[in-house]
Amino acid sequence: MLKLRSVRVEDLDALFVLDQQCFPEGIAYSKEELAYFLFETISLSLIAEEDRKLAGFIVAEQVSPTLMHLITIDVAAGMRRLGVGRVLMEAILEGAVCAGTEAIELEVAVDNAGAQAFYREAGFVETGRIAGYYMGTLDALTMRRALRV
Ligand SMILES: CC(C)(COP(=O)(O)OP(=O)(O)OC[C@H]1O[C@@H](n2cnc3c(N)ncnc32)[C@H](O)[C@@H]1OP(=O)(O)O)[C@@H](O)C(=O)NCCC(=O)NCCS
Repeated sequence: MLKLRSVRVEDLDALFVLDQQCFPEGIAYSKEELAYFLFETISLSLIAEEDRKLAGFIVAEQVSPTLMHLITIDVAAGMRRLGVGRVLMEAILEGAVCAGTEAIELEVAVDNAGAQAFYREAGFVETGRIAGYYMGTLDALTMRRALRV
């Protein structure tokens, strides 16, 4: 059964490994960057576990009193298309609404069609494109979802 829980400092190594598996070099976060977003910013983060095994995690940073920025959502390869991402996203959006957030924004690589479809399904709309956002060579789409307050 899938369970959500808060992130602890001792989870960092496993979250780093999962992020490395989810993204190519240059897009995946370093362990220091992940630690920064998880523990040194004002952020919401959650881990999803299936039978105590890491299935995925999500981190969103509060960048202003009314705006959150999705840092990442990572689901383990063997656990995809089972609703783990949806559960993590719904929980973080609920937390964002409770925190008074009016919108959540994100970037996604133009070649990551699966994630784009996931975000559209979660109610995000495309708002623009940033040239060379990843490694100076790969463009990102920007997406936004307005939240009820
Ligand atoms: C994107 C990601 C988080 C989605 O997580 P997930 O647990 O597989 O997603 P869910 O099972 O909750 O999917 C919910 C819905 O989103 C859509 N969706 C999810 N993945 C999709 C894909 N690869 N292609 C098309 N639609 C997709 C579908 O509508 C899906 O519903 P359905 O399975 O009933 O059709 C996951 O694929 C992942 O971790 N990818 C690698 C990391 C990544 O790219 N993260 C985003 C960074 S910007």
